[in-house]
Amino acid sequence: MSGFSPAWLTLREPADRAARNRDVMARCALTFAARARLKVCDLGAGTGASLRAFADLLPGEQEWTLIDHDPENLAAALTALEAWADEASRHDAGLTLQHGLRRIEVRTEVRDLAKTPACWPADTDLVTASALFDLTSAAWIKRLVASLAAGRLPLLATLTADEKLSATPPHPLDKKVAAAFRQHQSRDKGFGPSAGADAGRFLEQTLEGAGYVLTAGESPWVLEPSELLRATVEGIAAAAAETGLESDALAEWLEHRRHATERLTVGHRDVFARIL
Ligand SMILES: C[S@@+](CC[C@H](N)C(=O)[O-])C[C@H]1O[C@@H](n2cnc3c(N)ncnc32)[C@H](O)[C@@H]1O
Repeated sequence: MSGFSPAWLTLREPADRAARNRDVMARCALTFAARARLKVCDLGAGTGASLRAFADLLPGEQEWTLIDHDPENLAAALTALEAWADEASRHDAGLTLQHGLRRIEVRTEVRDLAKTPACWPADTDLVTASALFDLTSAAWIKRLVASLAAGRLPLLATLTADEKLSATPPHPLDKKVAAAFRQHQSRDKGFGPSAGADAGRFLEQTLEGAGYVLTAGESPWVLEPSELLRATVEGIAAAAAETGLESDALAEWLEHRRHATERLTVGHRDVFARIL
């Protein structure tokens, strides 16, 4: 399981749902509570997890544009959304869904966000993104925020990894592996030198500098022994190996983390930002 495959995104979705910061989500819901309709654009939409996570917080009539550069993820999004909805019908433009009291129009768009951060439809009311900003660069974040601010558009950005890792019971190599993982996460992920562990804080500072009022907080995964925990430590070890960490020691760390970890915490930050 690797990269941003539909299998990985499906595996992480329940942990993401449990982790999102309640205050941030509540502030977003309150902001749009008086609206009957909302147009949302989700950046780096993957298999549509943001829509499934946010739909119940938002008004009864919703139009979503899901943007991703990976057509396989967007095809998987439509299939997953059909399965999630109470009723679904496909048409040339995408999908119409009924989910509880929500009626939701969904369209997808294959696009490279690195080239064009501001790619939302003209009358968008809310831009969302989950698990995207830590892939991007400081320069890209500045461009995105400038475009959002020009349209006074609110942003809900969740699960920006801050690379805070802690695990019990401890292992002597934990600090070295965590440092190697952070180093790997700061490599270019297609958006220029990655903001990595600093992305969440940098996004928040940039939004504040552009006049946004923020509700922000932590949204860590707290994982007990599970397939997700094992896949996560395997991903951390693979990233650490690419930085040149000694392979026998790393293999011993991975063995310990796979079989003896009782709890793994992986840090993220969430923010809802709006201009009053
Ligand atoms: C960690 S996944 C998160 C997916 C989804 N938001 C979620 O929470 O499950 C990051 C997503 O960003 C997409 N992505 C990465 N680089 C991109 C780019 N340059 N343009 C558009 N999408 C990109 C990936 O294809 C992937 O679907």
